[in-house]
Amino acid sequence: MKSISSLQAERLKYVPSLSPVFQENGADISVSQHDPLLPTKDRDAVNNQFPHTFGKPIITFQSGKKQEPQPSNVGVIFSGGQASGGHNVIAGLFDGLNYLNKDSKLYGFLNGPDGLLAHNHIELTAEIIAPFRNTGGFDMIGSGRTKLNHNDQYNTVKENCKKLNIKSLVIIGGDDSNTTAGILAEYFLANNIPIQVIGCPKTIDGDLRNEWIETSFGFDTACKVYAELTGSICRDAISAKKYWHIIKLMGRSASHIALECALQTHANITIISEEVENKKLTLHAIIESICSTIIDRSNQGKNYGILLVPEGLVEFIPEIKVLISELNDLMAASDINQEDMANAHDASELEKYGLSQHSAEVYLTLPDEIRLQLVMDRDSHGNVQVSKIDTEKLLIQNVSNRLKDLKKRGSYSGNFSPQGHFFGYEGRCVAPSNFDANYCYNLGYAAAAMIGAGETGYLSAVKNLDQPVSKWQPHGIPISGMMNIERRHGSEKPVIQKYLVDLSGNPYAEFSKNRDDWAENDRYIFPGPIQYFGPASVADACTMTLQLGKKPAIKNTR
Ligand code: FBP
Repeated sequence: MKSISSLQAERLKYVPSLSPVFQENGADISVSQHDPLLPTKDRDAVNNQFPHTFGKPIITFQSGKKQEPQPSNVGVIFSGGQASGGHNVIAGLFDGLNYLNKDSKLYGFLNGPDGLLAHNHIELTAEIIAPFRNTGGFDMIGSGRTKLNHNDQYNTVKENCKKLNIKSLVIIGGDDSNTTAGILAEYFLANNIPIQVIGCPKTIDGDLRNEWIETSFGFDTACKVYAELTGSICRDAISAKKYWHIIKLMGRSASHIALECALQTHANITIISEEVENKKLTLHAIIESICSTIIDRSNQGKNYGILLVPEGLVEFIPEIKVLISELNDLMAASDINQEDMANAHDASELEKYGLSQHSAEVYLTLPDEIRLQLVMDRDSHGNVQVSKIDTEKLLIQNVSNRLKDLKKRGSYSGNFSPQGHFFGYEGRCVAPSNFDANYCYNLGYAAAAMIGAGETGYLSAVKNLDQPVSKWQPHGIPISGMMNIERRHGSEKPVIQKYLVDLSGNPYAEFSKNRDDWAENDRYIFPGPIQYFGPASVADACTMTLQLGKKPAIKNTR
């Protein structure tokens, strides 16, 4: 009986490609300092909060005098949701540290920040890491969502690092976790604590991106999985010709995943939350627009189609956004009986809880199931867990009702038979695509190089990712330079700005140019499963988002 699959066995043999700078010099590089990276917004406020790490330069790597650093003990954690390639960040970090000094040690703190606080750790040796190379998941050390955000926690981290003589910490996470990495680096410098902190950009959502971070790891693999599944559903739809498939795609607030899947499959309709917000589209307007496409297709004899819905849509629909914000304030401010509120069935009753008349009316238009989710499913801060709302069901119910109504009036004569889907967790722990396997290995290696060069408060990044690895340029981005000030849980906080879909960017323009054609005609394309072997045009291709982002501006025709 096999203990691992044939594909697992082959993937273990895969040797990720390194950028030429590391191939030539290992992690034994010198860093070149460029212009200081200053925040584009809130410069003074960020400077006040980061006096020791403000104004650091972007760094690139190049061959230089041999560094021969002392052996170093390094700690690493995963923070937040799984994203394919995380194990390769650790493998790259381990190999890079080992290259610099064979006596260095790497400790993995278990289950995310909780492991750092509870001093729950393992030493990551070559033997432990070996079976995890090129595998998906974070199960080598686990992950968690605990936030490190106050001095007591930072001191506990310091004490626990001291017990293992840890001099550097690598935090592999999203925008919040890398914000924490920046804050921790500042705190350690301010308090003369000799621990360097380096971050690595992780999240399938693709929203940790800016001029210097071309993409976060995991986005490529997750999109390939969702696009494969969506393509298969397109083929089923065009074969059976009887269902409309309404597919919610993970990605939290940003619609990058939905947009990438639209570009990869040409689904008939894709909702982009950022556009909904920009055009202030109400739920009614969205439903009308979907129904109009369904009717047009039905008039051509096509009672089938594919609708892609980004996970965070409801947060961007103006009236639901207001409702959610009122509910968040209400729940935070008083001890409301959530069950009673969920069961309230008229506006005046809801107003007694403190909802405005408009929000009470909006609330009552929502299906019972969604109301329950809005009121009952709360995170640890008391906020609505938007990602858990069954938006696909909300749309199915509203579209079905509207079409029934139109049928009664004689404006629609088709059959609307919907099937709801949610593609999310199935894309987060898949064996990383070649892109993510290589990217992550370089991120880990660059983190090791920065540790060797004594840097702190940096995020590991790679440039030219749309090109072959031979053109990749790893570099370090000062985290303070990516911060701005935002209001979070009632106070002003420095944070790395989340990157939402840019409505003036190429990926959206390409979608916008083609969406009417994709809506009316069956232009589906079928990306098929991730290919780990074979022609580079298939096996090593990166996302359309990345490719289009590097092209000259495409004119937006709408
Ligand atoms: P990160 O932002 O931590 O990378 O998580 C991304 C994500 O997969 C979102 O797309 C999704 O909304 C969320 O995690 C789900 O969270 P959980 O794993 O806690 O259910």
